[in-house]
Amino acid sequence: MRFEDQFLHAARGRHPLIYLCTPEEERVTENLKTLAPKCFANGTLTTWSCIRGLEPAADGADSRDPVTALQQIVAKPRPGIYVMKDLADFMDDPRVVRGLREAYQAFCRNFQSVIVLVSPAGTLPMSLEKELCYLELDPPSHEEIQERVAAVQGLYRGAALPPEILSQALLALRGLTFHEIDHVMHRVFSVGASKDKALAEIFAEKERLAKKTGFLQFVPLRFDTSVVGGLENVKDWALKRKSLFTQEAVKAGLPVPKGILIMGVAGCGKSLLSKAIAGLWQVPLFRLDMSLIFSGAYGSPPAAFDRALRTVEAIAPVILWIDEMEASLSTPKEAATPQSMCFSTFLTWMQEKPPLVFVAATANRIEMLPAEIVRKGRFDEVFFVDLPNKEERQQIFGVHLSNNAEDPKRFDLARLAHTTEGWSGAEIQQAVIAARIAAKEAGRAMTTDDIWGQAYTMVPLSKTMSEQVKAIRDWAFTRAKPASSKRNYEAGV
Ligand SMILES: Nc1ncnc2c1ncn2[C@@H]1O[C@H](COP(=O)(O)OP(=O)(O)OP(=O)(O)O)[C@@H](O)[C@H]1O
Ligand SMILES: [Mg+2]
Repeated sequence: MRFEDQFLHAARGRHPLIYLCTPEEERVTENLKTLAPKCFANGTLTTWSCIRGLEPAADGADSRDPVTALQQIVAKPRPGIYVMKDLADFMDDPRVVRGLREAYQAFCRNFQSVIVLVSPAGTLPMSLEKELCYLELDPPSHEEIQERVAAVQGLYRGAALPPEILSQALLALRGLTFHEIDHVMHRVFSVGASKDKALAEIFAEKERLAKKTGFLQFVPLRFDTSVVGGLENVKDWALKRKSLFTQEAVKAGLPVPKGILIMGVAGCGKSLLSKAIAGLWQVPLFRLDMSLIFSGAYGSPPAAFDRALRTVEAIAPVILWIDEMEASLSTPKEAATPQSMCFSTFLTWMQEKPPLVFVAATANRIEMLPAEIVRKGRFDEVFFVDLPNKEERQQIFGVHLSNNAEDPKRFDLARLAHTTEGWSGAEIQQAVIAARIAAKEAGRAMTTDDIWGQAYTMVPLSKTMSEQVKAIRDWAFTRAKPASSKRNYEAGV
């Protein structure tokens, strides 16, 4: 619910004490200024801080002391709204708590004033729990962001965001406070708003925000799905949804993608796909480090996990990447371990989370994940990544040759693909790198034979661990959609 509606709702219920935990006191004050006359006849706005006292002051009296201010408010209430800034920091004084309770009782009897407590942090005493009404400030809306950007832009002559990234930039600014938007836009406009720089600055601001929490790691967007060989079904899936992960799609009521679970054989591109999707959509990617959550360094794991999910919501639009999910969120059969508590929090959150938070989860030991996770409605799709087939291996060789500054056309890719049955993408990458080193050592350009030589010396994991690969394939066969457009029918693996 928008803040304005929440406030009107609270006023209709005649709640005289309201608490808002937010760093955006200016925005709150602006909003309340317009709400005061709507809620009360001749209602005005009065603010208080321990530096400035009540403004406007009552009869010029000094009211910087919080107890004095509360006494003045109760003695001579003005119709309207009192915004008390950072009063939460004075709660260890019993007279402050008492002052608030007396104000509550007086205003309940004669409801013509409301006290709104605003502070960026701090908890309020349990003893006021019954009297306080908690409201939340929703993040700046699309229109508000637009206004804010325009205001900063107006200060720089001739500056403007390139039109082709405008909607993307406005989307990326969501979740930032007014001040954060100002800072980032000043940085953008002061160096000239080039297409790449502007988005990079906005993402960097989000990175700084997530860093403060410690367990969310920003993953820079270095590539899109063009560096992924094969796995066409996932690439198509992501491409079709690129335009759906936008503010416009949310507004139009279109089905916004919620999440994807990629499971399958080790080294075949699960992590790579997660990063590539973020790159394709140009949405910041944050990896949630579950081992840090469970380390206890950030408080109890369920509380830390909950905080992580809230932070992610605040920095939306965002892709939350949970890599190797089974390592942290598998549930032992016995109830109520920290893992199982986090897992059930996660399942509920997946169904209730706001739009424009996309979850990319990967897993390879699938049997360790509880069955609920693959149930429809949580993830949009569960994909199974198999060992690459011949055609895909050919493409992967091409990708890695290009990555190593080689022209794939110079190589016999068909022959390489033919001899590398059962190889994973990671193994193909290793072979190319090893061949490059060998060629460099010999002081000549790399050839197909250099790579082919590697094929003989390496035994792919799928051979040494054929049982596991078979188990993964059997499990996924009925439960997941193949990531490749063609099944891998090769024998032996
Ligand atoms: N389909 C592919 N196309 C191009 N490169 C690939 C592909 N699959 C794997 N690779 C290469 O192998 C590396 C390792 O792949 P990735 O980390 O995505 O595997 P994974 O499936 O996440 O494995 P694990 O289960 O071990 O985490 C990638 O960084 C990439 O260079
Ligand atoms: Mg991985």
